[in-house]
Amino acid sequence: MNTIEDTLFIGKVFQHYNRLNSTNETANEYLSKSNPSEGTVISTYNQQKGRGQIGSHWESEADKNISLSIILYPKFLTIHQQFCLNQAISLAVFDFVSQFIDTNVKIKWPNDIYVGLKKIAGILIQNSLSNQGFQSSVVGLGINVNQKIFLSNAPNPTSLALETRQTYDLDEMARLLCIMVERRYLQLRSQQFHILQQDYLHHFFRFMEDALYKDAAGQVFNGKIVGVEDSGKLLIDRKGGQVAFAMKEVKFIF
Ligand code: BTN
Repeated sequence: MNTIEDTLFIGKVFQHYNRLNSTNETANEYLSKSNPSEGTVISTYNQQKGRGQIGSHWESEADKNISLSIILYPKFLTIHQQFCLNQAISLAVFDFVSQFIDTNVKIKWPNDIYVGLKKIAGILIQNSLSNQGFQSSVVGLGINVNQKIFLSNAPNPTSLALETRQTYDLDEMARLLCIMVERRYLQLRSQQFHILQQDYLHHFFRFMEDALYKDAAGQVFNGKIVGVEDSGKLLIDRKGGQVAFAMKEVKFIF
């Protein structure tokens, strides 16, 4: 596949590689060496050194899953609106997974996609910012599609095949994923922040539920997620008071 037909700009340039270390790494190289058009996709079904959040490794068995990165130029966003891009992309992956699994699909803060208590997809967005604001963004998407056995110690992985007992065509799945991303990105571009925020919370994992968390000091506490700040910090009601947590400041206890 070297282009996607049914989109306006995402995947019009679709660079598929037989093998890559990391599609995010390659997308960043494209950005540093050339001027790739918006929506350029770097894809492989055999990613050797997939990057995960907070320096972790993203496991993906060869020829089973989708690993792709999309180059975007969300210059219409201010630096303070960075999290809106996360919300739009999380929703796109949520929409994609929900086409195949109709119950229990959730967005776990900040941008993991879960089915029940298991992670089915991961997102790694790398933004390049300057004084003028947003320059570019590499949106890395890893979707567990046909993989059935996971070897690394990633917490609770699952896949579309494990959840639905079906096998999927990867080219077709990548095409659908790009369509979903474009839809949500167009919503973002037309400043529909309110809808995105509303939809994001509507599908939010543990929203308004009492559950256990661990704070940065290692203290386990009972709390209830009540929202997200514009900055992306997670708002948890803890003993009747709202506390805002950044990425590394809180862990979900299962
Ligand atoms: C996470 O830790 O949840 C984020 C995982 C992101 C994995 C994807 S796979 C495609 C892209 N290239 C990478 O190296 N990482 C992302």
